[in-house]
Amino acid sequence: MKYTFPENFWWGSAASGPQTEGTYEGDQKGANIWDHWYAEQPEAFFDQVGPNRTSAFYKNYKADIQLMKQTGHNSFRTSIQWSRLIPNGTGEVNQKAVDFYNSVIDELIANDVEPFMNLYHFDMPMKMQEKGGWENRETVEAYVHFAKTCFELFGDRVKKWFTHNEPIVPVEGGYLYQFHYPAIVDMKKAAQVGYHEALASAKAIKVYHELNQGGEIGIILNLTPSYPRDENNPEDVKAARIADAIFNRSFLEPAVKGVFPTDLVDLLKEIDYLPVIEEGDLDIIKENTVDLLGVNYYQPRRIKAKESAEKLSDGPMPDDYFDNYEMPGRKMNPYRGWEIYEKGIYDILTNLRENYGNIRCFISENGMGVEGEERYINEDGRIDDDYRIEFVKDHLKYVHQAIQEGSNVQGYHMWTCMDNWSWLNAYKNRYGFIAVDLDNDCKRTIKKSGQWFKQMTDNNGFDD
Ligand code: BG6
Repeated sequence: MKYTFPENFWWGSAASGPQTEGTYEGDQKGANIWDHWYAEQPEAFFDQVGPNRTSAFYKNYKADIQLMKQTGHNSFRTSIQWSRLIPNGTGEVNQKAVDFYNSVIDELIANDVEPFMNLYHFDMPMKMQEKGGWENRETVEAYVHFAKTCFELFGDRVKKWFTHNEPIVPVEGGYLYQFHYPAIVDMKKAAQVGYHEALASAKAIKVYHELNQGGEIGIILNLTPSYPRDENNPEDVKAARIADAIFNRSFLEPAVKGVFPTDLVDLLKEIDYLPVIEEGDLDIIKENTVDLLGVNYYQPRRIKAKESAEKLSDGPMPDDYFDNYEMPGRKMNPYRGWEIYEKGIYDILTNLRENYGNIRCFISENGMGVEGEERYINEDGRIDDDYRIEFVKDHLKYVHQAIQEGSNVQGYHMWTCMDNWSWLNAYKNRYGFIAVDLDNDCKRTIKKSGQWFKQMTDNNGFDD
C-alpha cells in the first residue's frame, strides 16, 4: 500500500540546546541545573558523562545543517538555552548567544530547513534554581521576560515557537521520581511547579500574540495514552483516568481549552495540595491557549487499580491512585524499557480530533533509543538500523490513518537528528539518524535510517 502525506508536510527531527550545543571557554553561558548537578554528583550520570560531552552543535552547526538536508529535513526543532542567552536567568543578555542563535537560524533558512524554536527544554538556569526554580513565582516572570527577549531578537525569522517541551517531566523528574534536579519527592511542590509552568506558558503566548509577528506558538507535550488493564472493570478504568489526568490532561487541557481538568483539581483539593493561584491567573490561562500542539509519543501507560494500600513514600504520591500494569506479551524496547505500541499515536490523534477541537498538531518527537548500535556497523562503516526504519514506518502508518480520518496533523519529527546526550542516561541509548563517534572528534556518519528518511521525504511518503 502507498502512504502519501499531505502537501507541505513538516518532515524533520527535534533536538534541544542543552543536549547538543556543549559549553566552551569564553562562550559566556551561565550554568543550568544539569551543569550544576553533574559537577555535584557525576556518578548519577550514565558512565559519568555530563552535559559538556555533546555533539558540539555550537561549533558544528553549519556542517550539521548540511547533514539535515542530506537526511531529508524541511524543518528542525531545537531550543534556545535560557542560561546561554541570559546567563543569570534575569538581567544581561549574552551577545555571543545572540550571534550564535542568529547564525543558526539564518543558516537553517538559507538551506530551506524551517527553524522551530522551543523556549524551555528542562534547562533551568542555576541562578533561578537557587531561588526555587519553578517552585517560585518569580521564575514565571523571569521566563516570560526571556521568552519576550527571544521573540524580539529572533521572531522576524522564526515563525514556529513552543513554550515548553514536556512540562510534566520537570514535575515528575524533579519533584516525584528523582530523575531531574532537584530530585526531591514532594507532591505539593510538584503541583506548584506544574501550575507555574502552565501559567508561564499562557503568559508567553499572550506576549507573543501581542507582538503580532505573524507566526504561531504552541506547546510540546509528551502524551502517554492511559489504557486500563480491563476496560470492563470500573476500578481499572477509574485508575487509568486518574493517571491520564495527572500525566496528560494536566497540561493538555489548560494548553488547548484554557482550564484545568476538574478531576485533577478535585484530587489536589482533597489532599490540600492545590497550588497557590493569584488573582487574574486563571483568566490569563483561559484567554491564552495554543495555536498548535506538538505531540511527543514514545509509549503508552498500562494501568490497573491499586492492589495494595502500601505507600511508596510518607506523603501523597500519584502512585497512591493506580498501579502500573505489566501487560503480558506487550512489545518492549529492551534497551529503554519502554513499550512500543504504534497504535498509541493514532489513539492520541483521534482523541485530539474528537475531544480537543481537532487542534492543529504535529508529531514533534517519536523515536527509538538503542544501546550498542556499533554492532550493526556494516563493512562500509554505516549503522544498518533497520529496526529504526520499521519503527518509523509502523508509526507513520497510524499517523496516515488518522489523517485519512480527518486529524489535523501537519508533520512528523523524529527524535533525533544525531545521537545526543540524554540527561541521566547520557549516551546509553542512541536515537539519531546520524551516528556520532564521541571518541573520534564527534565524527558524524549517516545511518541507514537517515538515508531511508531522505528517500521517504523526497517522495512525501512510502510504499509498504
Ligand atoms: C524526550 C525528551 O522525552 O525523550 C528528550 O524530550 C529525550 O529530551 C528523549 O532525550 C529520550 O529520552 P531518553 O531518556 O531515553 O534518552
